Amino acid sequence: MPVRSPVLNVMANAALKASRGLLRDFGEVEQLQVSVKGPGDFVSTADLRAERTIRGELTRARPGYGLLFEEGGGETGSDTRHRWIVDPLDGTTNFLHGIPHFAISIALERDGEIVAGIVYDPTRDEMFWAEKGVGAYVNDRRLRVSARRNLGDAVIATGIPFRERGNHPAYLTTLSAVMARTSGVRRFGAAALDLAYVAAGRYDGFWEFGLSPWDIAAGLLLVREAGGYASDLNGGQATVTSGDLLVANDHLHLPLAALLREAERGVKAEPSRSA
Ligand code: IPD
Ligand code: CA
Ligand code: CA
Repeated sequence: MPVRSPVLNVMANAALKASRGLLRDFGEVEQLQVSVKGPGDFVSTADLRAERTIRGELTRARPGYGLLFEEGGGETGSDTRHRWIVDPLDGTTNFLHGIPHFAISIALERDGEIVAGIVYDPTRDEMFWAEKGVGAYVNDRRLRVSARRNLGDAVIATGIPFRERGNHPAYLTTLSAVMARTSGVRRFGAAALDLAYVAAGRYDGFWEFGLSPWDIAAGLLLVREAGGYASDLNGGQATVTSGDLLVANDHLHLPLAALLREAERGVKAEPSRSA
């Protein structure tokens, strides 16, 4: 059984506490699907309530730390070395539609570097966690990214931009390139879980444009501690503010990065069955 540090336990307990409310509210959402008004307002209340619970737990345990919460924004603490980066509900659209695929993401940044992260999936009771230098785990099981070497065998996750968000034509060129060269593309709708699934070797890679720090802070550490590689789309090391992100195992990162760059330059990739 891996030993979690005290601060990781604080994060995990905050997520577990908030998840009890989220699961109750999710049950309610399933009922509200059939009402004309729909569950919209109800879901934003659930989201805010989860954020309040997590914030309460984290600040009680570490009063001076800074905060970056998706809903509540940023706050500098008396301890300027540390900052929590939190998405209380990642996968809101899934939650709103009664689709059981959403998560809580909590990361701890120290001196500008993520040192601990959890992504908790309440419906499957999967606690993905990582600490810098300690490794990545789901519950008590150690995680490794997949060992696949051929793009043609790979399953790659992505986030598809919607409504007014992002550059839709540019995104479609990347999707078209990746779908032509891999075993398949998945869009499950929760970026934090997409990253956790790469860390777990379930997906071989993931890319998305325009992500926010709270979507990826914990997931980046999970991927790295599981032996994966995370970059921005120019090949530079990914940070929480990268926005555009590509993660994969070591073998597939380079070919995927080349594919995405080619696509972005408008060069058409030829369909083929293998890398
Ligand atoms: C969203 C999800 C989604 C991703 C979006 C995010 P939210 O977060 O992670 O998978 O495609 O870019 O904004 O709004 O559900 O917290
Ligand atoms: Ca999110
Ligand atoms: Ca969110």
